[in-house]
Amino acid sequence: MRYLTFALGKGRLAKTTLKLFEQIGITCEEMKDKDTRKLIFVNEELKLRFFLAKGPDVPTYVEYGAADIGIVGRDTILQEGRNIYEVLDLGFGKCRMCVCGYASAKDLLEHHEQIRVATKYPKIAKDYFYNKKHQTVEIIKLNGSIELAPIVGLADVIVDIVETGSTLKENGLVVLEEICQLSARMVVNPVSMKLEQERVSRLISDLRSVIPESDR
Ligand code: PRP
Repeated sequence: MRYLTFALGKGRLAKTTLKLFEQIGITCEEMKDKDTRKLIFVNEELKLRFFLAKGPDVPTYVEYGAADIGIVGRDTILQEGRNIYEVLDLGFGKCRMCVCGYASAKDLLEHHEQIRVATKYPKIAKDYFYNKKHQTVEIIKLNGSIELAPIVGLADVIVDIVETGSTLKENGLVVLEEICQLSARMVVNPVSMKLEQERVSRLISDLRSVIPESDR
């Protein structure tokens, strides 16, 4: 039996994923050692391998087949636009992709003004404004603290993730439009989906059985 390789997005996503996997009998003790410098972790018994990667790199590893399966946020899947299959909503990491800004920017959106949009997700922003709203905008790519952009006058609005809404609230900003719902997803390489159909299908059904129905 060949190894089935998993790429997990580093951080909270990987931790929650491992907890979910434990519920279906998949463990990886090696990975729990906080001091380890190892990059790849193996469960010999089940012939599984795990590695941690930066979120945006997970779809890349999966598309090229370096990982059979990836666990990553839907925001990253949409932004990266890779040739991979999204097979399961894991039901955690729920948040929304939204257009946000000062309440006064609502007029600019309604009147389809040529506005500046700051975001870490230029592909998602472009798809939303150009293909869905048919509005021409100028997109400015940032790498973090996106909420700063309208405050310091870099952009009229932002396209960003809203989870609790507290970052917006504390900075006097509001949700102006919702683009889509997000959560952690399981993705699979198209070839692995065929070659490992039995193992992948069993994994999906096992995970489904432990994900609360209300989270699916
Ligand atoms: C994310 C996102 C928002 C914030 C939303 O940023 O970009 O800034 O969380 O969460 P909230 O609605 O619960 O306040 P993150 O903390 O990941 O860091 P970043 O600004 O560097 O992207």
